[in-house]
Amino acid sequence: MQADHHYTPRWGALCMLAAGLALTSQAPPPCPRSCRCGAAVPTANCSYARLAAVPERLPPDLTRLNLSRNAIRTLAPEQFGALTRLEDLDLSDNLLAYVEADAFVGLRSLLDLRVARNRLKVLPVGAFAGLSRLRLLDVSGNEILGFLDFTFRESAGLRVLKALQNDVVFVSRQAFAGLTDLRQLHLDGCNLTSVPTEAFVHLGGLTGLYLHRLESTVLPNYAFLCLARLKELFIADWPRLEMLSANSLVGLNLTSLVIRSCNLSSVPYAAFHHLVYLVHLDLSYNPIGYIQGNRLGDLLRLEEFHIVGGRLRRIEMATFHGLARLSLLNVSGNLLSTLEEPVFQSPGALRRLGLDANPLDCDCRLLWLARRRSSLDFGGGPPTCGALGRWDFLDYPAAEIAELLTCRPPHVRPHQPDLVWVEQGHMAVLHCNAEGRPAPSVTWRNPELRALTDVGRIRAVANGSLEVRYAQPQDAGPYRCVASNAAGNDTRSVELRVRALSKKKPFRLKSWLVALPSSSPDQREPPFDVKTLLIAASIGFLSFLSSVSVCFVAMFFWSKGRGQIKHTANIAYVPRSAPAGSNGGAGNYVETSRFTMKLM
Ligand SMILES: *[C@@H]1O[C@H](CO)[C@@H](O)[C@H](O)[C@H]1NC(C)=O
Ligand SMILES: *[C@@H]1O[C@H](CO)[C@@H](O)[C@H](O)[C@H]1NC(C)=O
Ligand SMILES: *[C@@H]1O[C@H](CO)[C@@H](O)[C@H](O)[C@H]1NC(C)=O
Ligand SMILES: *[C@@H]1O[C@H](CO)[C@@H](O)[C@H](O)[C@H]1NC(C)=O
Ligand SMILES: *[C@@H]1O[C@H](CO)[C@@H](O)[C@H](O)[C@H]1NC(C)=O
Ligand SMILES: *[C@@H]1O[C@H](CO)[C@@H](O)[C@H](O)[C@H]1NC(C)=O
Ligand SMILES: *[C@@H]1O[C@H](CO)[C@@H](O)[C@H](O)[C@H]1NC(C)=O
Repeated sequence: MQADHHYTPRWGALCMLAAGLALTSQAPPPCPRSCRCGAAVPTANCSYARLAAVPERLPPDLTRLNLSRNAIRTLAPEQFGALTRLEDLDLSDNLLAYVEADAFVGLRSLLDLRVARNRLKVLPVGAFAGLSRLRLLDVSGNEILGFLDFTFRESAGLRVLKALQNDVVFVSRQAFAGLTDLRQLHLDGCNLTSVPTEAFVHLGGLTGLYLHRLESTVLPNYAFLCLARLKELFIADWPRLEMLSANSLVGLNLTSLVIRSCNLSSVPYAAFHHLVYLVHLDLSYNPIGYIQGNRLGDLLRLEEFHIVGGRLRRIEMATFHGLARLSLLNVSGNLLSTLEEPVFQSPGALRRLGLDANPLDCDCRLLWLARRRSSLDFGGGPPTCGALGRWDFLDYPAAEIAELLTCRPPHVRPHQPDLVWVEQGHMAVLHCNAEGRPAPSVTWRNPELRALTDVGRIRAVANGSLEVRYAQPQDAGPYRCVASNAAGNDTRSVELRVRALSKKKPFRLKSWLVALPSSSPDQREPPFDVKTLLIAASIGFLSFLSSVSVCFVAMFFWSKGRGQIKHTANIAYVPRSAPAGSNGGAGNYVETSRFTMKLM
């Protein structure tokens, strides 16, 4: 409004005068009232002019026309008829709810058209007819529900299409047909539940695809076929996106990939592995917990890796092996306790490192950073460590840093006798109580020196102990726990002995009985439990008899219903009931019913 007051006296008076003149003479239409027109370059700035419609008469030689921030509601066909030199038209921030077909016909020089932040719900086919030179179209911030087939057929020269912040629900298959020169497409799905793969097929020239706010949980396989020239893929604010299928990015040869503010809980290594030209990777603001070692090696040209504001607790050793050009790592705002030098293939290539806002443990694992402090750019803030408050590498002289960043090698304290006995079938817990700085990690090896994991009957539990469940005689032997940290390792061996049960007893039966609370392992019992055998046998016999009798009853009703059909019944069941031969069905029935009654 202030601008309005400022400009109106100067231009307004002039324009009114000119308008008056225009009425009497046949001179070309002057600058419209309440617009500001450039003198040298024929431009008209009608922004904030409270226009309810496009001014009727506009200077025909205009090259730029700014109609933004008015109250224009409709555009009639051939609304701008004679402006054949117009190159830039801005209709943003109006109240346009509809654009008639052919509205822009005649604007044959138009390069940039902005219709952002209006109330468009649909772009009718033919709305952009005649705009053969159009390069940029911005329809962001409308209420567009979908893109219809052939909407852009007549603007085949389009290079950039921006359609952010709409309520797009569908993108029809041929919506982008003809846009073979399109370089950048900015789409905002909001209510779209899947990537419009088929519509993208027409965009062979696309180099940048920016997809915001889709409601998709999975990026499916082959989502971006035919986008062979695509260099930059940007996926952001898909709050439900939890995974990328292994072949989801097949066909792409990207240099930049951004998947921000989604719901990925792990790095989609498999989907990335063919992106050997990737330079820039950004997985920020995803709940990714850790990065596995040796899984990113295919990205051999990667220079920048951002994973800011996630839930990273650990970056495993050798994570960036193969990535000799990595010069920027930004992991600020995570839960990392350290970042060790051996995660990098060539730590010397690193120039920028974002490590601030992590709860770092300040010990010898960060010494390499202290040594590199003058050659590293820490960006937003220096690394800080919990124990020392805001601890800035640059604040301490080199000699002091070496004393601050210390480690203590692990020491396994004897916590348990070196010999542990367990009854067969019971559980033994072997302890490994290790201390050191940083807190050592504990691994267990079995008597065959195989490393034991956290699954299985014999498993290493998170607190460092080893559980041997349902101990068996063959489990006996020396178990080794190895506690290691950045400063070294320590080993302790515990001998496990298993007290075997009596050999006479049948194994299975015995182990069941052991599991019962009342039974005692020392109780002597006969080798075969006669009662159990009897019960088992009679259960089997009963079930046999009952199934036979059910069959006979069924056959009885069937034969009554069908009359004289008996032969099949005899053949199937006689051998076990009675040598009744193949005589009358009635006799057979009597015999069977007797049999059944016996059972009860
Ligand atoms: C057009 O006018 C508006 C309001 O007076 C002003 O804010 C804007 O900068 C102008 N634009 C150009 C390109 O001069
Ligand atoms: C799109 O989603 C928003 C919420 O995300 C909702 O308010 C709106 O009604 C939806 N529009 C359509 C057309 O479904
Ligand atoms: C993100 O994923 C987690 C499980 O991994 C799920 O519990 C949560 O609801 C998801 N968030 C959204 C917005 O879908
Ligand atoms: C992939 O892109 C790089 C440059 O970004 C280019 O040098 C290379 O030839 C492309 N590879 C294929 C197969 O298109
Ligand atoms: C890392 O990202 C954060 C947030 O985007 C930024 O403030 C910081 O400067 C970045 N650090 C580096 C080293 O680029
Ligand atoms: C470790 O946890 C297991 C159960 O998960 C327990 O039996 C064992 O006593 C614990 N060890 C220590 C040293 O607390
Ligand atoms: C333990 O440390 C020694 C050197 O002190 C080293 O040779 C050995 O490989 C280490 N073992 C493990 C399992 O880290």
